[in-house]
Amino acid sequence: MNNASDSWWRSAVIYQVYIRSFADGDGDGTGDIAGLRSRLPYLADLGVDAVWITPWYPSPLADGGYDVSDYRGIHPAFGTLADAREMIAEAHGLGLRVILDIVPNHTSDRHTWFRQALAAPPGSPGSPGSPGSPGSPGSPARERYIFRDGRGEDGSLPPNDWHAAFGGPAWTRTADGQWYLHLFAPEQPDLNWDNPEVHAEFESILRFWFDLGVDGFRIDVAHGMAKDPALPDLGLPEFSVLTGPGQDDHPHWDRDGVHDIFREWRAVADGYPDRRVFVAEAHVRPGRLAGYLREDELHTAFNFDFLKCPLEAGPLREVIDRSITELAAVGAPATWVLSNHDETRHVTRYGRARTGVQATFRDRRLPTDRALGTRRARAAALLMLALPGGAYLYQGEELGLYEVEDLPEDALQDPVWERSGHTVRGRDGCRVPLPWTGDAPPFGFGPPGTVPWLPQPADFTSLTAEAGRADPASMLRLYRHALLLRRTDPGLRGEEFHWLDSPDGTLLFERGPGLLCAVNLSARPLPLPDARDPLLASGPLDSDGLLPPDTTAWLQRRTA
Ligand code: BGC
Repeated sequence: MNNASDSWWRSAVIYQVYIRSFADGDGDGTGDIAGLRSRLPYLADLGVDAVWITPWYPSPLADGGYDVSDYRGIHPAFGTLADAREMIAEAHGLGLRVILDIVPNHTSDRHTWFRQALAAPPGSPGSPGSPGSPGSPGSPARERYIFRDGRGEDGSLPPNDWHAAFGGPAWTRTADGQWYLHLFAPEQPDLNWDNPEVHAEFESILRFWFDLGVDGFRIDVAHGMAKDPALPDLGLPEFSVLTGPGQDDHPHWDRDGVHDIFREWRAVADGYPDRRVFVAEAHVRPGRLAGYLREDELHTAFNFDFLKCPLEAGPLREVIDRSITELAAVGAPATWVLSNHDETRHVTRYGRARTGVQATFRDRRLPTDRALGTRRARAAALLMLALPGGAYLYQGEELGLYEVEDLPEDALQDPVWERSGHTVRGRDGCRVPLPWTGDAPPFGFGPPGTVPWLPQPADFTSLTAEAGRADPASMLRLYRHALLLRRTDPGLRGEEFHWLDSPDGTLLFERGPGLLCAVNLSARPLPLPDARDPLLASGPLDSDGLLPPDTTAWLQRRTA
């Protein structure tokens, strides 16, 4: 593959493959590597630079694979290591880089280490041989995780008041009476990153996959790996993400200790002659992301502020400015993302009255105008793809897929559903298997007769890749055209970017020489600047050549 440019990652468009739902090669209803291989030409054709594959390792799938039981293998439902090796080579042959998902905050409760921990004696505080987290019980096998005695006279109360992301307390008691920490499901015990053995193990895992040829890693819960060893109470009524001010020195989010880990990881990546990269999933307060992207740490990070921003000109301009400026200060490019496997699909979000309300973990069903959402999603895609830096696409957004909010309750698999006592449906609605062809399930997701692991709605007929290819006005054709221009138009290369004046509710910016992007999020049609020809627009201009509401256009300076 072409490794000529060492800085490909600075402007890469990276396509997220949620492997269970992408394409099923063997008809068991679950996506797999064979399915992915068969669709690599589609991805190359779409014009993306890389794929990010969500965890494909052996796993009981208590959290869709984010509960890894063996970091050096492949889940048998997804294929074999040999399949993975061939897939990587084929992707490279098509000019696509491959990024894997690494899950270092926690393992599965079926991981050998956790089984050993449960089988080991609890130990006693300060016992010899303990790598020594203050207050920890000290049995070496338990020191790889975070085990503690409980509170109360008989230790029957959890060691502190932390809450788990999917609901309930962040502690589970073991048969011998000790408790272990899990910031997510009980099947996902948190690792103890104060233990050097954990560092050594993950460096070895990184090398294992780098040696196999992968180009980088997306780091799951990068902001959660370091914990305050004193494990102080939080005093909060429920689980919270780090968003607001006044959360300095949080005992388990965004602690400075994570940076030591990432400096070690960067040294591992830099030990390879060709560029290997990291992207952080780090939910942090404004101003903190740049710390992860210092020269000797990670390369890029997801921009969740952009994803969560209401689709309104003022807030968007603020987020865009802040992102570019903050990250430029450490020499890192900005990135942009509209959807992923944890969030309500943006066609649905943008079809709601308050477009900034997103969190799938908590969202209830809200009235949605899908046609409006689709129009806005098209406008948002052209905005995102015109911005300088990298962009992340979530599988199916190029088809215009929406959140499937009426999955039958007995089909729901996200642990959020159970853990919330059936009050929050969770993230399955954005994980429904992709429709590729045909007019009935499985829509080419697998061979005829395949029953997809989540049911596909009947109206996916009009959203298949096949239908998209045939319709010049489809979302797929828009994405393909935009990605082609991103590769070929010099105006979209480089990191040049500046705002031009435009009416309230609209955005206008210039990229490289001669290329403008106009976004109309106001209620009135927007006159386009003179002497510019539309290169691509997310919807038709009106009969006077004005840009209608909820529409974006790329414009090029007219040559005399
Ligand atoms: C992943 C989620 C997962 C969680 C726990 C995340 O942020 O994106 O899908 O449930 O980490 O691993």
